[in-house]
Order: sequence, then structure tokens, then C-alpha cells
Amino acid sequence: MSIIRCENLCRVFTLADGSRLQALKNVNIDIEEGKLTILKGRSGSGKTTLLNLLGGLDRPDSGKVFLDEREIQDLKGMERVRMRRENIGFVFQSVALIPTMNARENVEYSLRLAGIGKGRKERTLECLAAVGLSERETHFPEEMSGGEQQRVAVARAMAHKPKVIFADEPTGALDTATGLQVIKLLKDMIAKEHITVVMTTHDPGIMQFGDAGYELEDGEIIGKW
Ligand SMILES: Nc1ncnc2c1ncn2[C@@H]1O[C@H](COP(=O)(O)OP(=O)(O)O)[C@@H](O)[C@H]1O
Ligand SMILES: [Mg+2]
Repeated sequence: MSIIRCENLCRVFTLADGSRLQALKNVNIDIEEGKLTILKGRSGSGKTTLLNLLGGLDRPDSGKVFLDEREIQDLKGMERVRMRRENIGFVFQSVALIPTMNARENVEYSLRLAGIGKGRKERTLECLAAVGLSERETHFPEEMSGGEQQRVAVARAMAHKPKVIFADEPTGALDTATGLQVIKLLKDMIAKEHITVVMTTHDPGIMQFGDAGYELEDGEIIGKW
């Protein structure tokens, strides 16, 4: 079953010199529920732009994005923010943990943002355990390795039980072995928490871990498997 799909998505950026750059050209994709879908392509091919549109962080110039067959462009202001907070989790390449909060507080903060009041502590500890970091609960980001920080970021993205996690090159800043651990973790989350994961990568070695995928080149989908 499809959980997210887009129709003829186009995104044009206007550069400082006034010229226009078409970052996405008529992109149509369909993300199946409960799967790991990989968006691959060279740097500059449009992966991040597409992920941000699918996750409602950015708006297309034309085309539509549907989450559970609901068009997300129609949502305004707080309704849109709420849709994102409740249904979507993000993991970024450069781990975006809050440096002044320890691992537990980083995860708990996202639960607070999602408006979850009850059972916050329990859920936080459950998610840190799920990523194998129970013993790092009180560590601050700078007191953890890159791989550990990325695992906290995964715990944070999944804590509010989103329908979909978007991960933008989550292995990009990690060595191969640590990167594979993070992918395995995302796959575990799919099995255990019934979420859907969409991740980007430019690393051909990671393709084999996806259940499905699309290849982007110059803002266009050139392959699907
Ligand atoms: N905010 C922006 N302003 C102008 N150009 C952008 C912006 N974001 C991305 N681009 C351009 O759009 C194209 C696609 O970028 P991006 O989606 O980041 O690619 P990828 O994630 O595959 O590396 C690139 O040519 C990039 O320079
Ligand atoms: Mg990118």
C-alpha cells in the first residue's frame, strides 16, 4: 500500500544572480508502507530537495504530495506543522542534536514538540534502548561518537511513532561499518515499529539494503527498482 506519493513535482530555485535552477523536474514516485525506500543519485541530483518536499519541509513550485492520500499542500500554518510533527520524523546527515541537551533530553524534547505528554520518560528510554544506547542516556552530543550521535538522532526521529522517517544521507558522515549499523537500525525500526523509511544516499554499496528505490539524475527520476 502506498503511504506517500507525489505527482509531477517541480522545484525551481532562483539563484543570487537571478538565474533559475530547476532542481526537480516532474518527479513521480510512490512510497510503499512498511518498506525501506532508497533515493540514490550523485551529489546535486536533487535528493535533498525531493526529501524536503515529501516531508513537508519545503513546498513545490508545481505538483502534489500526498500523505495517506491527503494532499499536504492544502494544509496551512499550524495544521501543516502539526501534520509534520505527528506523522514524520527526520534524520539528517550532519547530526542535528541539540548540543546543550543530553541524549535523553534530545529524544524527550521531540516528544514534547509532538505534543506527547504522557509516558514521555518511558518512551524515551525505550527508544534509547532500541538504538542500543541505554548507557549513554546522560551523555551530551560531544561526549558521543558520530555513530552514537546518529543513533540518538534515529531514536529521536522514531520516538513519537511517526508514520514515515525521512533520512537524508544518514550514513554520509560515518565510516562504512558504522553506517551499516545505522541502516540495520532503520530496518529494525521498520520491523518493530511498523514505520516507513525513505533515505537518500550517493553510496552504491548501500542500495542492496533497500526494499525499493529510485535513481535521480539532474532532478529527474531515471530508474526505479
Ligand atoms: N536553496 C537552494 N537554492 C539554490 N539552489 C539550490 C538550493 N538547494 C539546492 N539547490 C540546487 O539544487 C540542486 C539539487 O540539490 P540537492 O537537492 O541538495 O541535491 P542532492 O541532495 O542530491 O545533493 C543542486 O544543483 C543544488 O545546488
Ligand atoms: Mg543532499
